[in-house]
Amino acid sequence: MITDGHLLLLILSISHVLAALAGGGGGNVPADSILLNSGSTEDAIDADGRTWAGDRNDKYRLSSGNSSPSTAPYQDPSLPSQTPYMSARVFTAASTYEFSVSAKTHHYVRLHFYPAAYNGQDPAGSYFDVTTADGSITLLRNFSAFATVKALTQAYIIREFYLPPAAGGVLRLTFTPSVAHKGSYAFVNGIEVLSAPDIYGSGAASLVGFSGQDVTVGSSAVQTMFRLNVGGQFLPPGNDTGGLGRTWYDDSPYIFGAAFGITYAAEKNVTVRYPPEAREMAPLDVYASARSMGPDPQVNMNTNLTWAFQVDGGFMYVVRLHFCELQMSKINQRVFDIYINNQTAVAGADVVGWTLSPAVPVHKDYAVYVADGPGSEELWVALHPSMASKAEYYDAVLNGLEVFKMNDTAGNLAGPNPSPSTMLTEAEEREAAAAATPQFSSSSSGGGRSGVIGGAAGGAAALGLVFAICFAVYSRKRRVGGAASGGGSGWLPLYGGGSSNATTSRSTISGKSSASSHLSSLAVSLCRHFSIAEIKQATRNFDESLVIGVGGFGKVYKGVVDGGTKVAIKRSNPSSEQGVHEFQTEIEMLSKLRHRHLVSLIGYCEENEEMILVYDYMAHGTLREHLYKGGGCKSPLPWKQRLEICIGAARGLHYLHTGAKYPIIHRDVKTTNILVDEKWVAKVSDFGLSKTGPSAIGQTHVSTVVKGSFGYLDPEYFRRQQLTDKSDVYSFGVVLFEVLCARPALNPSLPREQVSLADWTLHCKRKGTLEDIVDPSLRGQISAECLKKFIATAEKCLADHGVDRPAMGDVLWNLEFALQLQETADGGGAGVVPEGASSPSAAAAADGSSHRTGESLGGSEMSEESDGLNTSAVFSQLINPKGR
Ligand SMILES: *[C@@H]1O[C@H](CO)[C@@H](O)[C@H](O)[C@H]1NC(C)=O
Ligand SMILES: *[C@@H]1O[C@H](CO)[C@@H](O)[C@H](O)[C@H]1NC(C)=O
Ligand SMILES: *[C@@H]1O[C@H](CO)[C@@H](O)[C@H](O)[C@H]1NC(C)=O
Ligand SMILES: *[C@@H]1O[C@H](CO)[C@@H](O)[C@H](O)[C@H]1NC(C)=O
Ligand SMILES: *[C@@H]1O[C@H](CO)[C@@H](O)[C@H](O)[C@H]1NC(C)=O
Ligand SMILES: *[C@@H]1O[C@H](CO)[C@@H](O)[C@H](O)[C@H]1NC(C)=O
Repeated sequence: MITDGHLLLLILSISHVLAALAGGGGGNVPADSILLNSGSTEDAIDADGRTWAGDRNDKYRLSSGNSSPSTAPYQDPSLPSQTPYMSARVFTAASTYEFSVSAKTHHYVRLHFYPAAYNGQDPAGSYFDVTTADGSITLLRNFSAFATVKALTQAYIIREFYLPPAAGGVLRLTFTPSVAHKGSYAFVNGIEVLSAPDIYGSGAASLVGFSGQDVTVGSSAVQTMFRLNVGGQFLPPGNDTGGLGRTWYDDSPYIFGAAFGITYAAEKNVTVRYPPEAREMAPLDVYASARSMGPDPQVNMNTNLTWAFQVDGGFMYVVRLHFCELQMSKINQRVFDIYINNQTAVAGADVVGWTLSPAVPVHKDYAVYVADGPGSEELWVALHPSMASKAEYYDAVLNGLEVFKMNDTAGNLAGPNPSPSTMLTEAEEREAAAAATPQFSSSSSGGGRSGVIGGAAGGAAALGLVFAICFAVYSRKRRVGGAASGGGSGWLPLYGGGSSNATTSRSTISGKSSASSHLSSLAVSLCRHFSIAEIKQATRNFDESLVIGVGGFGKVYKGVVDGGTKVAIKRSNPSSEQGVHEFQTEIEMLSKLRHRHLVSLIGYCEENEEMILVYDYMAHGTLREHLYKGGGCKSPLPWKQRLEICIGAARGLHYLHTGAKYPIIHRDVKTTNILVDEKWVAKVSDFGLSKTGPSAIGQTHVSTVVKGSFGYLDPEYFRRQQLTDKSDVYSFGVVLFEVLCARPALNPSLPREQVSLADWTLHCKRKGTLEDIVDPSLRGQISAECLKKFIATAEKCLADHGVDRPAMGDVLWNLEFALQLQETADGGGAGVVPEGASSPSAAAAADGSSHRTGESLGGSEMSEESDGLNTSAVFSQLINPKGR
């Protein structure tokens, strides 16, 4: 029954929600709102549903000059829509657009450029300047849209400026072809002029590194370089607050390093309360989502959450940080330091301390001067938990981030045209060589010369996305990007969340090379594509002597690429069932994950029906190889090293569970999937079975068909087919006992009660005989305290119910503690166990040479444990443990 009172409440709360949805009530249309579809006489609607007015001289006056409308001969598939890009106004002499606008307000001006062969002219031959305020402010100088999109590997570019009130109510934009280039022309596809609130108000940005000094934007013009919805999704222009048409990009492409933190959205019971002055600062979506460092204070204290941007040198930048505390409610709960370009911008930032109550938006501006130097300049924003404040949580948080460039003292905002990477240039040269062959020219049959130019530009853009970015990752350089609205030498984001741009650019790529047709553009952009020729050269045409492992997937070869880099090359067996899907999963997962304790994917090759993955080479192979003979062990590892490897693997798994955007469940944790590099650093590998974990609130598991390796399989997962991160914890518990006892997780040749390591160790633990089955080669190495801690940790991992198992972070902590206990004991030279660890069964297990090690385990042995389920199908991918 809903009573009248309830109904009223309901209506009230609905209107509250609606108000909040409209961005705190700021859903109005700006006084001046001109969207000009240059070069087209028709009104038309763009991809975001905004109407662009035809170029008919009623919204503006075009003075003098020499201009003509033109249509692009080729529509690049990555254009979000025809409007406003397929038509352009082309200027062969200086021309001025005059817009009548309010003389009282600031304005956003956005210029849209899609370089193409307008009027049959070479798009590379266009260089021009754009000035405003009677030439006192230069927005673009010697600007080549062609060179810019090429370097950014995009089809089009948008430049956004925020201009002071126009004198006399007339905003003039002058397009001047560059005189330095013979036959140059200017063009523009779309112009937006929108009145904007005074977003800098009377406030001043404090100059980082100069305490007490402020920078005021005042009457300067600014260019928007980056605008990010931190921890949230891509917001198209139509979803901005106040009809301001700003685009908010996903921040993840700009995150530097492996510390991605975690993202979250406001709980349903949290209402963002806009103070009146904040209404148009950013839409609700920006404030209602955030990125924080994560739950582990230890990890947070040792890392920075960092964003890196490429900017033009020689300018002052204003960095605007948007905050809205969605989780904490009191002062001194989450306090952090903010660094900009390695200098402290704020020490002890406390969002609730600023707003005095939770869920209230607030922004802070900081100014920093980026000097002009050789090469491209960078702007770094880093957050770190405050040590000095003794806050309740060691964590940091950010909701939104904008970077604005201020005009210099000469009134200039323009930077140089970005130059394409060498990788891109080389790719293009190859492309040009290919273009010389007869097959290629047939594609231009329709459009003559312009068709070739369009096609080549599209191809270069697509290729660039793969090459330029892979190169960056491959050579371990930092990854930087930029918003479309950004500019200078800024970079477009590698992908745009929900932007149609991202989805269509994928089809460009797949049209170009058969690779990646099923892969997301992000995955494609993050890792390198190898040709089959390169792979054959690296493996001496798949020389059998280079095989280092055999898995359900196929063979793994050792190889050398780029004249010296050692890699592991995993080649799919064409008949393998564990085929395309797992191949894609692994690329998708690994390309986005970078962590010291995860194996890095360098690239892939998908050609001639081959599916090949290229990884970092792990000189010391699998963990199992260093434990017992049956696993291929020659000399067993000492205890401390085993412990350190376990800690590394735990750290990798902990990162998978908590560090990435969504929790990732590995699903196949075992000693052959923990690899060791030449410095004995453990790395978790084989993500072919990984699943993205539950992300929706309230959902705590993922239902799925049971997969994994027998002997390591979580009994609860097996029974209920519900996957949680605790399934990995169980498998890791088995790994810990395998490390301690040096015997396989399953050993069917042993007496029945000893076949399963998990069951046997728990049995021994109950009987108090666990120390008897510890690897005899560890005798005398393990301190009693350390052993106790280690066993207790492993045992907890094997708890029957997932809820009773510790989280991976706790396992990690306990193992680190065990290592400390060991080190303390070693330092004191004292207490050594286990005495008399030489039971016959332990010895037998250690001498695994006579045992079958799992490669041919069939349904019959399985049924012993599987309560009659038909396991042979489920475990069809059970593999030779030497493989990975
Ligand atoms: C204009 O930019 C191009 C590169 O895009 C450069 O080669 C040329 O020197 C620049 N010209 C002037 C006058 O700055
Ligand atoms: C943008 O707004 C539309 C209409 O209000 C909505 O359907 C869509 O989900 C929004 N998109 C995002 C990314 O918020
Ligand atoms: C919102 O709900 C969560 C649990 O669902 C609770 O922890 C939190 O305190 C609530 N927040 C507010 C502001 O009521
Ligand atoms: C900040 O410091 C790091 C590490 O020392 C360095 O690599 C980076 O270039 C610095 N960034 C800037 C903008 O100075
Ligand atoms: C975080 O960044 C600041 C500024 O660049 C630097 O001084 C500090 O060492 C960094 N801390 C960590 C843990 O990387
Ligand atoms: C930006 O240009 C204007 C007009 O030339 C000038 O008055 C102003 O001082 C410049 N701003 C800065 C920060 O130099």
